[in-house]
Amino acid sequence: MEQSMTTLKSERERSSQFDLATPGIRIAPSLLSADFARLEADVSAIEDAGAEVLHLDVMDGHFVPNISFGSPVIASLRKRTKMYFDTHLMIAEPKRYAEAFVKAGCDNITFHIETTDEPKAVVDHIRALGANVGVSLNPTTPVSAIEDILESVDLVLIMSVWPGFGGQKFIADVLPKVEELRQRLGPHQRLQMDGGIDRNTIAAAAEAGADLFVAGTAVFRQPDPPVAMAELLEIARSVRS
Ligand code: DX5
Ligand code: ZN
Repeated sequence: MEQSMTTLKSERERSSQFDLATPGIRIAPSLLSADFARLEADVSAIEDAGAEVLHLDVMDGHFVPNISFGSPVIASLRKRTKMYFDTHLMIAEPKRYAEAFVKAGCDNITFHIETTDEPKAVVDHIRALGANVGVSLNPTTPVSAIEDILESVDLVLIMSVWPGFGGQKFIADVLPKVEELRQRLGPHQRLQMDGGIDRNTIAAAAEAGADLFVAGTAVFRQPDPPVAMAELLEIARSVRS
């Protein structure tokens, strides 16, 4: 056990010095919309342009009706970038697989509250692995579902689409949950939105109080991803400043 924790630590030391607890408005480009045949090039382009957080959408074809990629892809990418690996587990058994993802170099593990009856145990397990912990809510899941763990997580992710696919339409009905959480979370806790974030929707998300914006289509499927990312950031910062 001691040996395995040492391994985890040395893996983590190779990744970013980025501190999730530092307040700020940020874009987290989602790898799901990158070109899977040229991941290193796509990731380097946004890292060189200043992106600090890379959003990794892991799907198991069970909790969500789609399969994306798993820990081997993340481990390979870990050797090619210093970005903070923000891992969105859309999988049925997050506690069972969390260690594999932390070993692969993930800095944060976000699990879905809908997948477990023992959220505190999942939070404690991920934290014991040495990673930051996030919890995600599907569009119709109320904030009350995370009441017991609200103070113990580093990040809350409000889904603004049904998880499973990129390129869906933003669901504005979730914005009141973001407003409620903004009042309740501390300055060290991030409030993330994911799904349908683009130039037309990011202002509403920022106004509601989100500070970490996942964007897949609106970054990687644009002619110039670094420029697209910079434009999103500018809109979000102009709203929140
Ligand atoms: C959806 C994923 C998202 C997805 C967002 O299940 O969690 O992170 O990549 O894609 P866009 O930005 O295209 O809606
Ligand atoms: Zn995601």
